Amino acid sequence: MVSNLIIPTSGRLRPRRLRRTAALRDLVAETDLSARRLIMPHFVSLAEQVTKPIASMPGISLLGRDNLVRQVEEDLELGIRAVLLFGHPRGGGKSPDAASAFDPEGAVQQATRRLKAAYGEDLVVMTDVCLCAYTDHGHCGLVERGRILNDPSLKPLALTALSHAEAGADVVAPSDMMDGRVAAIRDALDKEDFEDVAVLSYAVKYASAYYGPFRDAAESAPAHGDRQSHQMDCRNVREALKEAALDESEGADILMVKPALPCLDVIAAIRGASALPLAAYNVSGEYAAVKAAAASGWMDEPRAVRENLIAIRRAGADMIITYHARDALRGGWL
Ligand code: PBG
Ligand code: ZN
Repeated sequence: MVSNLIIPTSGRLRPRRLRRTAALRDLVAETDLSARRLIMPHFVSLAEQVTKPIASMPGISLLGRDNLVRQVEEDLELGIRAVLLFGHPRGGGKSPDAASAFDPEGAVQQATRRLKAAYGEDLVVMTDVCLCAYTDHGHCGLVERGRILNDPSLKPLALTALSHAEAGADVVAPSDMMDGRVAAIRDALDKEDFEDVAVLSYAVKYASAYYGPFRDAAESAPAHGDRQSHQMDCRNVREALKEAALDESEGADILMVKPALPCLDVIAAIRGASALPLAAYNVSGEYAAVKAAAASGWMDEPRAVRENLIAIRRAGADMIITYHARDALRGGWL
C-alpha cells in the first residue's frame, strides 16, 4: 500500500507512463462501450408516413411506421440491434380508463408488428408500458378523486403489456411505478403462453426534471399534480435497493435505473446488489442539455456524449437506452 505516502513526482511510481500513447491507453482501459450495448428509443405515430421533428430533442422525430422501418434499417447497419417504442393514441383516444393503451391497432402495436415482420430475430423490440400517454389526465395509473390508484391500474397495465406481446414484442418495459405491476404483467403473459417475452422493469425510476422534453414528445405531461406519489424521491438510495429486490422477486428479467447521469451511485449500488442484467436510461433531459450546450458552442458534443455514456457504463450499466445512439455510432464518438 502506498496510499499514506507522499509520492515525489521524481519517484518510481508514475501513472502517466500508461497514458503516454493511444495504444497504451487502450491497452489499460477498464471500460468498453460498443453498439451492442445501446438501445435506441423511438416515438411512433399512428400515421403510416410522417417525420415530425421534436423541438425539445434536436435530431429526434416522431415517426410514422414506414419511416420507422427505414430508420431502423439504417440503425441496424450501425449495429443498433435494440429499440424501445413509445406511442401516441388516436385523436381523441385519451380516456379515464386508458383503453387505447391496449388497442391492438395502437401505434406501438402496429409498429411492433411491422418491425418484427421486417427484421425478425435481428432486432430486439422493446415496448414502453405505461398509461400516461393514454389517460385524459396524463397520469401513469387510473385516478379517483385526484389520487392515483395502485391495484386498479394493474389490469390495464397488464393488458397493455399483453397487447404488445401479441404484436410480437421481445421485451415489455413497464415505466409506471405502480407496486406489483411486474408480477401482474408476468402472470398475464404466462397465462397467455407468452412465457418467452421478457420484462425489463423500470425498477428504480426517480421523479425527475430530466423527463421534461420527453413529455412534450409523448404528450404525456400530467394535467394536474406531479408524479411524486409513485416515482422515487431523489434523496433515497436504500429505497432503490428495495424496489430492485421487489421487481426481481416478481420476475423481472432486466432491471433499469432512470434517469442515468444524476444516478450513477444508484447504478453502482444496484449493480452490486443484483445478478440481473442492468439497464440505465440516459433520458430526454440529459440528451437535450448536451444538445443545447453544443448548439450554443459551449461544449464539444462528441466528447461530452462519449464521456456521459462511458460514465454510465463505468457505474455498472450493461446496456444504455440513449437518444445519442445513432449520432455516437455514426460519428465514431465512442
Ligand atoms: C412514461 C415514461 C416517461 C419516460 C419514459 N417513460 C416519462 C415520465 O415518467 O414522466 C421518460 C423518458 C425520457 O425522459 O427520455 N411513464
Ligand atoms: Zn407514465
